[in-house]
Amino acid sequence: MDAAALQEEALAAIEAASTPDELTALRTRYLGRKSELGQALRAVRDRETGLTLNALRQRIELALDEHRAELERAELERSLAEEALDVTLPGTALRRGRLHPLTQIRREVEDIFLGLGYEIVDSREVETVWHNFDALNQPLTHPSRSHRDTFYVDDDTLLRTHTSTGQIRVMEEREPPIYIATLGRVYRRDTPSPRSTPNFHQVEALAVDRGITLADLKGTLMHFFRAMFGPGRDVRMRTSFFPFTEPSVEFDVTCFLCAGEGCVFCKYTGWFEMGGAGVVDPAVFQNVGYDPEEWSGFAWGLGLDRIAAQRHGVPDIRMFWENDLRVLRQF
Ligand code: PHE
Repeated sequence: MDAAALQEEALAAIEAASTPDELTALRTRYLGRKSELGQALRAVRDRETGLTLNALRQRIELALDEHRAELERAELERSLAEEALDVTLPGTALRRGRLHPLTQIRREVEDIFLGLGYEIVDSREVETVWHNFDALNQPLTHPSRSHRDTFYVDDDTLLRTHTSTGQIRVMEEREPPIYIATLGRVYRRDTPSPRSTPNFHQVEALAVDRGITLADLKGTLMHFFRAMFGPGRDVRMRTSFFPFTEPSVEFDVTCFLCAGEGCVFCKYTGWFEMGGAGVVDPAVFQNVGYDPEEWSGFAWGLGLDRIAAQRHGVPDIRMFWENDLRVLRQF
């Protein structure tokens, strides 16, 4: 057997192998029991030949191991390169959530009140007849007391029809002076329409102090609407009636769309109706145990949903309740 020729041939073949499988085959071919070298090794009789052949076997084994390691390293590098993350590639965009337009407006309204030194208080949606009607001086004959207009839970429990209940809750618990605003859901058995839904949101403000007049109310409303809608807005008060205020007014702001010129949105009046207000009726103070000779105050309430519609030029407030993301994503 020509050891040198065998070595040359085996090393060249190993060097040329490109996969671990090929190396396994070469191991069998050059070192296996039936290989030329394998058989020669078994036939060895003298020490000299034995040393030469063993050296040859070790040389081939080493070459096999080294080349296998090389192939494995190359393979690993290839797969790492494939797996590697290209941090410069644009990622998959995640859509960000956002606050519901009514929540956004609610927070803005709260900020305006906080800026005026008012405290924001929470009240409850499930109320007693006393807090919703009686304490607010609502006569027993008032139509809103009817089961056809109001959602009753039982004879003495209902879903509040306005946030004015919050006035009573606060006054029952505290002594004046009071400057609070309370915001939340209210419920009325109305048929849904572009301008009303059976549950909607109101903001209620109450100020009780010494010497408060209607002028304070108008100044506060003016500040509120200019902060909300911009300095160009004007506020107008019309006489009205609420059992819990005397005198009572309803207030309008100049239409956002035509700035008072008159358009379809404001039904060509130039004004948009926002809510009700007035000087707190002495009967209400008596109901909560305040002396009407000592204390005076004003209260006003308005619909948040309407403010949001005004702010964004939304023609139908039901859109705020439908959870159509095509609408809500625009805010
Ligand atoms: N609670 C009245 C309503 O819902 C609004 C209002 C609030 C009027 C406070 C006067 C004073 O229509």
